[in-house]
Amino acid sequence: ETFDAAGLHILPGAIDVHVHFRDPGYTHKEDFESGTAAAAFGGVTTVFDMPNTLPTVATGAALAQKHAVAAAKACVDYGLYAVLGEESLDHLPDLIAGGIIGFKLYMGNTFGRIPSPSTGAMLEAFERVAPTGLRIALHAETNSIMERRQARLAASGRSDPLAHLASRPAVVAVEAVARAAILAEWTGARIHVLHISSAAELAPLRDARARGVDVTGETCPHYLLLGTADYARCGGVIRVNPPVREADNHGPLWAALRDGTIDMIATDHAPHTPEEKTRADIWAVDCGFPGVESQMPLMLSGVAQGHYSVCDYVRWSAENPAKVFGLHPRKGAVAVGADADFAFVDLARRWTLRDADLQSRSKISPWDGRAVTGLPVHTMVRGRFVMRDRALVPGSAGFGRSVHPLQSMPPAQPRHQDQSLAAVTAQRPEAAE
Ligand code: NCD
Ligand code: ZN
Ligand code: ZN
Repeated sequence: ETFDAAGLHILPGAIDVHVHFRDPGYTHKEDFESGTAAAAFGGVTTVFDMPNTLPTVATGAALAQKHAVAAAKACVDYGLYAVLGEESLDHLPDLIAGGIIGFKLYMGNTFGRIPSPSTGAMLEAFERVAPTGLRIALHAETNSIMERRQARLAASGRSDPLAHLASRPAVVAVEAVARAAILAEWTGARIHVLHISSAAELAPLRDARARGVDVTGETCPHYLLLGTADYARCGGVIRVNPPVREADNHGPLWAALRDGTIDMIATDHAPHTPEEKTRADIWAVDCGFPGVESQMPLMLSGVAQGHYSVCDYVRWSAENPAKVFGLHPRKGAVAVGADADFAFVDLARRWTLRDADLQSRSKISPWDGRAVTGLPVHTMVRGRFVMRDRALVPGSAGFGRSVHPLQSMPPAQPRHQDQSLAAVTAQRPEAAE
C-alpha cells in the first residue's frame, strides 16, 4: 500500500486517558463507533473509556457487556475503566480478571449518579487495589462541600452559568486531592488526578509526590485555553465538571505541564445533545462537551506559536499516558516492538474548528469557530489506516482492540499500613486473589 506523506510529520498517535463514549446506555449522546471515529479524526489511536455508562461498570457482567460493545464498534484501541466504590468492592477480582486499564473513583457527583464513597470506603478500596498495581483515577471533587454550596446558591435564586463555577470553587478539588493523596500514601495505591483545573491543586499534588506517593495528573485543553471570559460567549455549553476557571490559572497549569507536575493532556470528552446542553436549568447534570477530536489541533497550535516543541506535545499526549498506565513501549513510542500507531499531521495547516464538522454525535462545544494550526491528515492504528485524507476508512469499526497494562506493576510500598487490618483483610476470600 502506498500513500502520500509528503510534508507531513509522523507522530505517535495520541492516547486520551479520559473519554466518555456513553455506550451502553446513553447512545443518543455518543456510542463506541461515533466516539472512536472522532478519536481517529483527532489523531488519537487509543482511548480509555470511563465507567459511568448504563449499567455502571461495577460488576464483571457489566464489564463483559461493555467489552462486547467496544470490540464490535471501536475504530481505535481502547482501555476500559471500572468503577471503584462501595457498589464494586465485592466485585474487584471479577473486574480485574475481566480486563481493565485501571479504576475510576468518583469523589464528587457526576453524570450517571454514581455514589461517592465515604473516606472509610475509599481507604478500604485503596487497600484492596494497591497490591494489583493498577492505577486509580480520581474525579477529585468533595461532594459534601459542593452540594452544600449548590444548595445555598440555588436557594438564593442564582441561576447564571457562573453559579455553576461558584458551586465548585477550587477548594472543592484541593481538599479532595489532598485527602486522596493521604490515603494513597497510607496504602501504597497508585493514583491519577483527573481534570486538574486550578493552580491551587498543584500544591497538594507536589507535596504528595515529594512524600513518595505514586500520583500522576492530567489537565484538559479547556482548563489551559478557556477562562471565565468565555462564559458569556458560550452560556451553558461551557458547563463542565470541574468548571472552567479564571484565566490566572493558565500560567501555573502550563508551567506544571512543562516541569512534569502534570504528566499529560486528556480531554474528558463528555458528549451531550444540543437540547441537553442548552436547557435553561444550570443545575442539570449534562456537564461537559466533546473534546477527543480537537485536542491535537488545539495543542499543536501552541507548537506553531513556538510556546513548546512538538516533542513536548508528544510527551504529554502519548509517551506519558502510556508510561503512567503501563502500556509503554508498546504504545506511546516509536521503537522496535511498538505498535505502529501514528498520526500523520500537517503542522502548518491553518483551519477553523467547526462543531458541525465533528464526528462526535454531540455537535456542540466551546471550540466552534476557533482558529487552529495543525491538522491530523491520516491516522494509523497497528499498521492500518483508520482515517485517511480526512475520511474514515471503511471497515474500521471493529478493528480497535482492548489494551491492558503490559505487566501487572509491582505494588508501591505502603508506608503506614495498619498491619492488624491488613491481616483481617487477607482472611477474606475475595482479597486472596
Ligand atoms: C462527565 C460526564 O458527563 O460524564 N462530565 C463532566 O462535566 N466532566 C463526568 C465527569 O467527568 O465528571
Ligand atoms: Zn470527572
Ligand atoms: Zn470525565
